[in-house]
Amino acid sequence: MSDDPKDQLDALSTSFREEVEAALDEDALYAVQVKYLGKKGLVSRQRAHMGKLAPEQRKAFGQAFNQTKGALEQLLAARREALTEAARSLRLARREDLTMLAQRRSAGSLHPITHTRRRLEAVFRGMGYDVLDGPHVEHQQYNFDDLNFQPDHPARDMQDTFFVQGRAGTDVDPLVLRTHTSPVQIRAMLTRPPPVRVIAQGTVFRRDDDATHSPMFHQIEGLCIDRGVGMADLKATLYRFVQAFFGSDLQVRLRPSFFPFVEPGAEFDMQCPFGREPSCRVCKGSGWIELGGSGMVHPAVLDAVDIDPEVYTGWAFGFGIDRMAMLLHAVPHMRLLFESDVRFLEQFPC
Ligand code: DAH
Repeated sequence: MSDDPKDQLDALSTSFREEVEAALDEDALYAVQVKYLGKKGLVSRQRAHMGKLAPEQRKAFGQAFNQTKGALEQLLAARREALTEAARSLRLARREDLTMLAQRRSAGSLHPITHTRRRLEAVFRGMGYDVLDGPHVEHQQYNFDDLNFQPDHPARDMQDTFFVQGRAGTDVDPLVLRTHTSPVQIRAMLTRPPPVRVIAQGTVFRRDDDATHSPMFHQIEGLCIDRGVGMADLKATLYRFVQAFFGSDLQVRLRPSFFPFVEPGAEFDMQCPFGREPSCRVCKGSGWIELGGSGMVHPAVLDAVDIDPEVYTGWAFGFGIDRMAMLLHAVPHMRLLFESDVRFLEQFPC
């Protein structure tokens, strides 16, 4: 290397530039910085030449030294910034992609019957009805006797069921798995003075078992007791209900029928929401769907709960919720509703 201090300085700057370029991270860069520009660094030490130079050379060298040092410092700062930026980009590139869909945990959903039940409740609450509950294991008296089922009437056979304890006419309190929600009518009238406006829904039990019947199913019951209520109020309420539940102007019709606890009694149908197509699987082309039973509360029932039939009248209705859910969701077999098969239940994300 030449003895000329300026040459030496230039040579140092060249190797400095090379080493700065070669430094691939902050630590390496810092080492270069210390090596050349540190207190005892190679460049810093060049300053010592000043003392040995003739005064006329000293000024020029001083200027060259300061210029070179300044330039090297700038270079260092630029390289440092570039390294920081590169490290940041690398970090970002390695980071997980936040826009990727997270793995969803399956949260479950309401059972189609629960969903239907809640919708029914909401409609009747909106009309001013209270929602009642009743036990599944019921007094035979409430399930049959007080509802005017005579002990030997064939209507009892139609609802033959699971007797839990005792038999009517013995001392033991006869209990039965309730065959319908109608006993809640008795409970409501025994505990509330008229006027009564209630609905009750829940599980009921019978011996039936086929594509559209299950030994365990669900019903909803409505009861209204007041002065001067009649069949027209019953029909208007059913009409209102169907409108609210199905959201369209569907008619309701009553057909005379027998239930021991109503007189007159009627089955009620609603117009098929799918029109009157001969191929309709829901109404089978009749244009009507059978929903349930209804009628004016029998005076014998009012007597049984000490309500004077000369002062109060009332109407009641009851129908199956499962059938309703099957209609709404085109479920082909009732058992599907109760098998808890996730592949079936997943199809009802409500
Ligand atoms: N409880 C009856 C059944 O399960 C349905 C029923 C018919 C309920 C007429 C009523 C009614 O309240 O008035 O078949």
